[in-house]
Amino acid sequence: MKRTLLFVSMALASIAGFAQPKVSRPGIIPEPQSVEPAEGHVAINARMKYFSNSEGAERAAELFNTFLEANYKLRLEKGTMQNSTLIFSDDEMLPAEGYQLTAVRNKIVLQGHGAGLFYGVQTLQQLVAQTKQLTYVPAVTIKDAPRFAYRGLMLDVGRHFFSVAYVKQFIDVMAHYKLNRFHWHLTEDQGWRIEIKKYPKLQSVASNRKETMMGPYRDGKYDGKPYGGYYTQEEVKDIVKYAGERFITVVPEIEMPGHAQAALAAYPNLGCTGGPYEVSTKWGVHKEVYCAGNDSVYAFLEDVLTEVMPLFPGQYVHIGGDECPKDRWKECPKCQARMKALGLKDEHELQSYFIQRMEKFLNSKGKKIIGWDEILEGGLAPDATVMSWRGEAGGIAAAKQKHDVIMTPNTYLYLDYHQGNPATEPLAIGGYLPLEKVYSYEPYPSSLNAEEQKYIKGVQGNVWTEYIPDAKGVDYFTYPRALALAEIGWSPASKKDYASFTSRLQSALQDLDKRGVNFRIPEAAGAEDMVVSGPKTTVTLQPIPGASIFYTLDGTQPSPNGKAYAAPFNISPAQNETVTLKYIVVLPSGRSSAVYSNTYTRKAFKNAQPVNPTRKGVQFSVYSKTFVQAKQTGAGTADSTGTLPDFSIRPFMHREKYGVSFEGYIRIDESGLYEFRTNSDDGSVLAVDDEVIVDNDGEHGAVEKTGMIPLLKGFHKIRVQYFNAGGAQQLQVGAGLKGKQSINLRNALFH
Ligand code: ACM
Ligand code: ZN
Repeated sequence: MKRTLLFVSMALASIAGFAQPKVSRPGIIPEPQSVEPAEGHVAINARMKYFSNSEGAERAAELFNTFLEANYKLRLEKGTMQNSTLIFSDDEMLPAEGYQLTAVRNKIVLQGHGAGLFYGVQTLQQLVAQTKQLTYVPAVTIKDAPRFAYRGLMLDVGRHFFSVAYVKQFIDVMAHYKLNRFHWHLTEDQGWRIEIKKYPKLQSVASNRKETMMGPYRDGKYDGKPYGGYYTQEEVKDIVKYAGERFITVVPEIEMPGHAQAALAAYPNLGCTGGPYEVSTKWGVHKEVYCAGNDSVYAFLEDVLTEVMPLFPGQYVHIGGDECPKDRWKECPKCQARMKALGLKDEHELQSYFIQRMEKFLNSKGKKIIGWDEILEGGLAPDATVMSWRGEAGGIAAAKQKHDVIMTPNTYLYLDYHQGNPATEPLAIGGYLPLEKVYSYEPYPSSLNAEEQKYIKGVQGNVWTEYIPDAKGVDYFTYPRALALAEIGWSPASKKDYASFTSRLQSALQDLDKRGVNFRIPEAAGAEDMVVSGPKTTVTLQPIPGASIFYTLDGTQPSPNGKAYAAPFNISPAQNETVTLKYIVVLPSGRSSAVYSNTYTRKAFKNAQPVNPTRKGVQFSVYSKTFVQAKQTGAGTADSTGTLPDFSIRPFMHREKYGVSFEGYIRIDESGLYEFRTNSDDGSVLAVDDEVIVDNDGEHGAVEKTGMIPLLKGFHKIRVQYFNAGGAQQLQVGAGLKGKQSINLRNALFH
């Protein structure tokens, strides 16, 4: 079941005193280290003068003035230290990127240095609010500095190319939310996107593919349309400068030894077989990689990096290193000869040699390398930073080896995964990472001790673009999830609070809408799939502020010309019937969400069974044969039967292909609406009193599903069926009163 976002409305803080307007406290994202609100506010108007005490402080003042002009048609004049009530004060004593902002007794003072002043201005912008009578900043004292030094977003411009103007907008939004590393994934199998003057075919050949496979990977068709693009070195310099002015360091990625098919198409001598190769037209991992036994490959990459390095003043160059199949190396005489000459025991060590050789080159030019976690295989380059993407395991291993780590686990931070029900979301590479899951990420793995944790330098969200063909799509996949990322990277762990975040998110989404960012519009608060037991249920919906909801209850598509939500309404399904709520959320800009839907099903309370079992646990029957559905288990003669304390498949996991059916009773101590949950790989079916409540059947990886049923106090029959068709195995079962703590099944199951 889809979980809806909980939006908590902001409390209005009233001002003591005569004829004072009410002021609201806009939330800040990312949440600062410390915020102490006070009574009152500081008005921002044409009488206010500002003062700055350095060039950097003057730039901060100018930034704020530009913001006021754009949003409030107001420009403040510079005064003196004495007659100004808005002070931008350069202060090198504060921590790197940190700032202090006070708005008290009619005066605003921002202290910081460099990035600190810049971030202080971003916070100040978020604090400015307006009523009919007044533009103001609520009284507050903020002390702030980031939790992590590296707070990144990666954009893949290899699969799809994005314009300079769009990359700048992407950078603008990042900077406003205090993200400070733009990882620019510039080379791929499907396109080389950075001009290298010494190798003109990288422009004329490697930046273009003849067509693109459409639709889901493997069963797609080709679109027949040539596709290409690259950034000139002048454009790269322009973007790097633009980012630098916003305190964002650009980390260029030049992939090696894999994801190199576009470069091979331009220069086939760089591959093991000599080609011919084409710039790839489909997604996935490709076997054509740079030859590790050919010195002209290293010479080529050194030439490329020699042109790349001066364009990027930052310390780091990302050399890729991920997903490099070793098929060609195993068959290549040059690669094999290189391994033999160096005494390398396998192709992983050859990849390690490749990366270490490039690291040595980059180090000799004063640069450091970052690589994806595969660079651990065959031995880590001495000074490499590891970007952990296949979960956290690579990051943990690297930190234990005293290497710096950037956490970007696909399990939490791959922003190309689905963020809602795939049925109403745009096509995506797969996965399911709703906002709440992203927000829940904690970058310090508990398996690292305090000393090892110091190597975790930060976090990054990755926007891979196989299924994101345009800028609107990048916006959609990136936001609002990148705001959760921003908070993970910046805010103290002790300040993490999802309800607070979603409440602060409301003003952030209004800001994104004003900026024209095509973020995913969240579901309305209050809309959720429900099982109800009475004849009438009141549904209260709340969209993000300023937005409207249009809905239907008859299964037809909602539209902005249809019924608008104005007040809570009743849903009255007949017994055992379902009413489907379909709605859209429409922003003030007119942009509409996808059609979201929820079901309200009326079910009668199930009576308890007339039994009183006393033996703990459930009975199982296991069958060693191939199933394609869990509901096929339980029939015929079992290989083995017995009892277990709960629905555990541990005793059966040595079997490759099998099915198991568990039966027993669950003791319900309190009448009410119960939610049951299964998370299984492959399928499972959970039934209560012979009615299927959670149908999680079929061959699949780990999937969680829930279902609800009203139950009267007493014993109820429970049956769980599960099968494994090979590969990974998992079965987790949960139950509990909806919204309450779950039942400890070991104490509640009987037979
Ligand atoms: C990656 O997702 N291949 C780093
Ligand atoms: Zn080779």
